[in-house]
Amino acid sequence: MALVTTTEMFKKAYTGGYAVGAFNVNNMEIVQGIVEAADELHSPVILQASAGARKYAKAAYLKKLVEAAVDTTNIPIALHLDHGADFDICKECIDGGFTSVMIDASSKPFEENIEISKRVADYAHDKGAVVEAELGTLAGIEDAVQVADDKAMFTDPDQVEEFVKKTGVDSLAIAIGTSHGAYKFKPGTDPKLRLDILAEVSKRLPGFPIVLHGSSSVPQKYVKIINEHGGALADAIGIPEEQLREAAKGAVCKINIDSDLRLGMTAGIREHLQAHPDHFDPRQYIADGRVYVKEIVHDKIINVLGSENKA
Ligand code: G3H
Ligand code: 13P
Ligand code: ZN
Repeated sequence: MALVTTTEMFKKAYTGGYAVGAFNVNNMEIVQGIVEAADELHSPVILQASAGARKYAKAAYLKKLVEAAVDTTNIPIALHLDHGADFDICKECIDGGFTSVMIDASSKPFEENIEISKRVADYAHDKGAVVEAELGTLAGIEDAVQVADDKAMFTDPDQVEEFVKKTGVDSLAIAIGTSHGAYKFKPGTDPKLRLDILAEVSKRLPGFPIVLHGSSSVPQKYVKIINEHGGALADAIGIPEEQLREAAKGAVCKINIDSDLRLGMTAGIREHLQAHPDHFDPRQYIADGRVYVKEIVHDKIINVLGSENKA
């Protein structure tokens, strides 16, 4: 199967009451771990590259790695730009064969966000690609953006119809209490997503696919392995998986996960090197990181996304 856009994926996910996982890719073993899990469970999957990933691995390498995944499986795979900062990076990715891009102008004033997102949507649609935009601001850290907790803003449901109508984008990322990174909530807190805002947004945009960023759940298994093998991670709490599952049953069609894969990769490598301090062949220890990446994606498909057998 060739690379696909997210159009069909989202249509089926919306009506089927599940979401498609969008996992960040930075190297070959991450691509392989994700795709092997999705393939075994016959799940569609979105592989997404951030500006940081494109800088680290080079866009051409990432594209070829994803093409190799497409060549070796039969599941639908979309290649998506994560957090495109401006028109130029979105254009470059669309021209380079990405089937989907995110334009993230969420930190700009409403009218400016509309203007930039519409420009990207017009260009993308001409070329057969699709566009995700964002309204509201998530707290947390990405390579390109750092948003302090007190600057994060929930999405205002009163703005979503006008935004989607005026921009023509294909999906909308909203802020309902998820955040980027592994340190989302202080230990001892009881994280609650604003599912009421999600319900209100879905009412205003019937049938329209909603996206959740910052949706790692920070599985304690991997935090523990890292810390028991020489790591020094502070206590971290992520998004409760049952709340994400609830969101996936409704209008949420795409759920973004990166930090959990980073934890899995690091846990596998640390565990391997501590057990075999004499090993210096990267194939040995990175392979163990890949095992945990695969395990995590497997668990997400079953426990969070509900996308098994939907390929
Ligand atoms: O949302 C951000 C993703 O986790 C990508 O992170 O910008 O460090 O590659 P990055
Ligand atoms: P996490 O940091 O929660 O994995 O979120 C990733 C993300 O939203 C990528 O766009
Ligand atoms: Zn994100």
